[in-house]
Amino acid sequence: MTEPTAQVSLMEITRHNIKAVLALEVSLEQKKVYPRSNAYSIAEGHFSADDDPVWMRAIYADETPVGFLMTSEVPEDGIYFLWRIMIDQHHQGRGYGRRAVELLVQRIQKNGNPQYLLTSHLKGDGDAGIFYQGLGFDYTGEVMDETDFMMKLDFQHHEAEQGE
Ligand SMILES: CC(C)(COP(=O)(O)OP(=O)(O)OC[C@H]1O[C@@H](n2cnc3c(N)ncnc32)[C@H](O)[C@@H]1OP(=O)(O)O)[C@@H](O)C(=O)NCCC(=O)NCCS
Repeated sequence: MTEPTAQVSLMEITRHNIKAVLALEVSLEQKKVYPRSNAYSIAEGHFSADDDPVWMRAIYADETPVGFLMTSEVPEDGIYFLWRIMIDQHHQGRGYGRRAVELLVQRIQKNGNPQYLLTSHLKGDGDAGIFYQGLGFDYTGEVMDETDFMMKLDFQHHEAEQGE
């Protein structure tokens, strides 16, 4: 059992933790709004387009792998896309998802010239819209494939708010 006070970190996925990462799952209900398994995402991430490089990490709470995230990044343009983030159903509601996004945001801010962190989610019961809004994301109004609602964290706005 992981504790809400655990230290969250974003760790490389290696041969030592891959099985644990593949075993992490969202609930059956959440699969309606987050259908991709970590196996699917990791396979997809290894075959991304050359101009769309993917960054994948396991989310740890202390020593325990509890989740997974995946971005694609164009640092020259300051544009980042959070394609996937999940916390295993048994570890949700302890602040790990929020902390993982905060760590991602800090990493992007260190890169210089950050403009936008984009994401999207399917609409449905228990979708991640409120989670993302709590982290400073707003809906852009764009909908991809008629189901995928785009959201954006604007770094100019975000940094100004943090500085207040
Ligand atoms: C979305 C997800 C990553 C959140 O991770 P988590 O560790 O459970 O979230 P946290 O405990 O860090 O919650 C942070 C805040 O978001 C809120 N929140 C989290 N998930 C939420 C949801 N599905 N609906 C509404 N609010 C939610 C929490 O209540 C909390 O609010 P608070 O700060 O006011 O207390 C996790 O629920 C998940 O894996 N869901 C399935 C996959 C998914 O939908 N991924 C995102 C789509 S790409």
